[in-house]
Amino acid sequence: MSNQEIKFYYKNITADAIGPEHGISKSQFEDLARETTPLIAQLNEERKLGKTPYRDLPFIAESLKRVKDLIAEVKDGCENLVVFGIGGSALGNIAVQTALNPYMHNMDDTQRTGPRLFVFDNVDPAQLASFLDWLGDGLDKTIFNVISKSGRTAETAAQFLIIRQLLLDKLGPDGCKKQIITTTDANQGTLRAITDEAGFRSLVVPDGIGGRFSVLSDVGLFSAGMCGVDIDSLLVGARDMDKRVSSEDFYKNPAAINAAINYHFYKRGKKISVMMPYCYALKDMADWYRQLWAESLGKATDLAGNEVFLGPTPVKALGTTDQHSQVQLYREGPNDKLFTFLQVGKFDKDLTISPAPDCASELGFLAGKDLSVLLNSEKKATEYALLESKRPCLTVVFPEVNAYTVGQFIYLFEVTTSFAGALFGINPYDQPAVELGKEATFALMGKPGDEYTEFAKKIRSLTNVDESFLV
Ligand code: PA5
Repeated sequence: MSNQEIKFYYKNITADAIGPEHGISKSQFEDLARETTPLIAQLNEERKLGKTPYRDLPFIAESLKRVKDLIAEVKDGCENLVVFGIGGSALGNIAVQTALNPYMHNMDDTQRTGPRLFVFDNVDPAQLASFLDWLGDGLDKTIFNVISKSGRTAETAAQFLIIRQLLLDKLGPDGCKKQIITTTDANQGTLRAITDEAGFRSLVVPDGIGGRFSVLSDVGLFSAGMCGVDIDSLLVGARDMDKRVSSEDFYKNPAAINAAINYHFYKRGKKISVMMPYCYALKDMADWYRQLWAESLGKATDLAGNEVFLGPTPVKALGTTDQHSQVQLYREGPNDKLFTFLQVGKFDKDLTISPAPDCASELGFLAGKDLSVLLNSEKKATEYALLESKRPCLTVVFPEVNAYTVGQFIYLFEVTTSFAGALFGINPYDQPAVELGKEATFALMGKPGDEYTEFAKKIRSLTNVDESFLV
């Protein structure tokens, strides 16, 4: 499958490409190689010691079998698959679906080989109500996959409680049991307790793996496999990338180089990292990356406990759409960004541009060209324009978007995140700052306990509207 390897292209961050003030010189790059090389061995060692269990996900046959067995059991007769989850329990599912199923998957029976997929990663009442109105009496043809590692996340818990009651009311206890599948911790947590008591079928969020690193586990594989994605190839892609990102030769290791470049630019004031796919199917990969990068690298303290308050800000954009929205800023605004384009060689389908009418001969140059050629020319045009403005640009090249290349991409960026964490000297695997908001929600929603009552008062004193500031 070597012709299906994704490639990481980094010439356009060099001083040769964008000049010495903004680009990386040869000697700076050699310094980066020297600084990063020991971290490769360190990460490989940590992996052997079981400290980064996400690295092993593509190799766990038991998980793949569990997912496939369940798919075989429930796919027949399932017209809709609904995922309830948030953050790492949703973004990977959305990204894989957008990448690997056709745009009209949910609308056109002929364009899918499994159920429609709906991922609700919010608690907007109008959104869910609209879906339930559409679903009508289709509850018995719908599987609800409730994904939560902890089981206590308010959004997912609320969705679950609503759907559980609806299923109990409409289909009774047996129907409810049949339509709900949970994905949660194997042994502990609220959702595990509910699952065991109700007898729901369930999948597992593996131990020691944060949501944002979990897409290649049961968390992401179930919805992908149900909806016709070749999950074997997804995992083979990740396994093949594992070899490349384990290489102790810095110059052959795309994750080490990617992290080192990001680290270098962050330290020199380019603290915003823009991922810009030139392919609609990859747009939600940029969203998945945004969480991975932000939650992993945005940290107040380093490994020694010193306050550092660091973290690159990930931004998602889409080519060509955002050329007409963001590129003015990207070129003429502050030179504080590193750009990562995602580029595709061959699209699944292509269209040729038709001839122009006689009255619009100035459009004639487009006629006969494929849309993919236009899209990729626009990528080059934007890259050129950014380089003219001395902005550093990386590109990840996908020969095609398929399960094998997407598996490589996911694994490449997960391991890049580990390298970036090591270079910044922070722990990329926790997310302590997310917890305060979760706890505050519990307090405001009236969770019992004196500490929550006091906490709610404190929150209200800070957040209740002061009319004198309202215009
Ligand atoms: O990446 C993460 O760890 C988070 O985004 C979690 O996935 C998210 O907060 C949801 O948590 P849980 O799966 O416990 O409901």
